[in-house]
Amino acid sequence: MTLRIDLKSAILALSDALDLVGVSDFQHGKRVAMIARETGLMLGLPEKRLDRLVCASLLHDLGVSSTAVHRRLLREADWDDRQAHCETGYRLLQPFAHLSLVANAIRYHHTPWRQLPAELSEVDGLDSNLIFLGDRVDAMLIQRGLENPLFNRDGIVEAIVALTGCELSSDLVQAFVAAAAREAFWIALVPRHVQRYLGDLSLSDWRITIDFPQFGHVARLISSIVDAKSAFTAAHSLGVAQLSRHLGERVGLTADALAEVEVAGLMHDVGKLCVPDEIVEKAGRLTPLEFSVMERHSFETYQILRHIPGLEQVAEWAAFHHEALNGHGYPFRRSREHLSPEARIVAVADVFQALAQDRPYRGRQRVEEIPHFLHDFVSHGVLDPDIVAIAIDDLDGSWRAATLPLADNASG
Ligand SMILES: [Fe+2]
Ligand SMILES: [Fe+2]
Ligand SMILES: [Fe+2]
Repeated sequence: MTLRIDLKSAILALSDALDLVGVSDFQHGKRVAMIARETGLMLGLPEKRLDRLVCASLLHDLGVSSTAVHRRLLREADWDDRQAHCETGYRLLQPFAHLSLVANAIRYHHTPWRQLPAELSEVDGLDSNLIFLGDRVDAMLIQRGLENPLFNRDGIVEAIVALTGCELSSDLVQAFVAAAAREAFWIALVPRHVQRYLGDLSLSDWRITIDFPQFGHVARLISSIVDAKSAFTAAHSLGVAQLSRHLGERVGLTADALAEVEVAGLMHDVGKLCVPDEIVEKAGRLTPLEFSVMERHSFETYQILRHIPGLEQVAEWAAFHHEALNGHGYPFRRSREHLSPEARIVAVADVFQALAQDRPYRGRQRVEEIPHFLHDFVSHGVLDPDIVAIAIDDLDGSWRAATLPLADNASG
């Protein structure tokens, strides 16, 4: 049976993934969605338009993979490089039919109202300006501390009113002032309520089922965001996905399982978005504290994916890639009886692909050195010996599957 996925839960999962990039500024996208939506309600926008606005707001920073860039965007409103992530987000959404609808609003979310291009549709112009507003309000909330948003109301409203006419349309500022007059608007911005607010929305416009190949576009989107985090991990997820499929074919998985194991490979490191850049890129050994932060990533992957109905199994295949047959892997300490063939495949593909890439603390291995390292993992009881044997048996084919996207990227 081919899987079908509900687009609404895919968008919410994508939003959870993007929110990780904020680290301590967690839930930025969701607060922007609330601020924009409450202002949109005051403007009298119909439900359908609000749904579209919420989706655009949740995803507005999808061009940001770096924790350092995220920090800067929320602390320096006039940062010269702020447009780059808008263009990246716009480009990432293009190939996906449903989500490309919000691409323009995302492209212009840092463009002042007066400078919006004349050819932009009214809907996109208004949505981009509403996100601009939400983004500014949240940046001020973060700078003042998120513990008590209501306490900071007056200063923030005053700063937003000062942007009337140039950065923000005057209708929009008026609507915001009206929304902000209610204490509930501010009290609802604390983490506990943010999660509820989003959960309570029906987002009926996004409640459509997409088939698994279409979901593959979302998975591809997620993998591009994760792989863009560091030059060291460029195309890592893509290589793991391709090698997982390649090994799955040799193990004799069904066509459906092959598509799913590929998606598991694409998304296995999505939780890495919460690991600060300086830890991912550290040249030396990680300290125990840094390692404990790094070890969160596959748990975060699990939490994000398992909430997509239909994806429960794929979530396990993706999130167990640091588990080991001997039960000493992380974070669940699963042992061989509790690790499916697909999870073992992703684990082998992950190690293989990583060996083929430079890491900040070591250079890449040559293809003929890979078997030696893989055997080491087998002898320590980490990787599955049969799957490793299959990978080594067709070493060149495995190498190509793991690294071809790298070559593609380099030439494109
Ligand atoms: Fe932004
Ligand atoms: Fe933002
Ligand atoms: Fe990982």
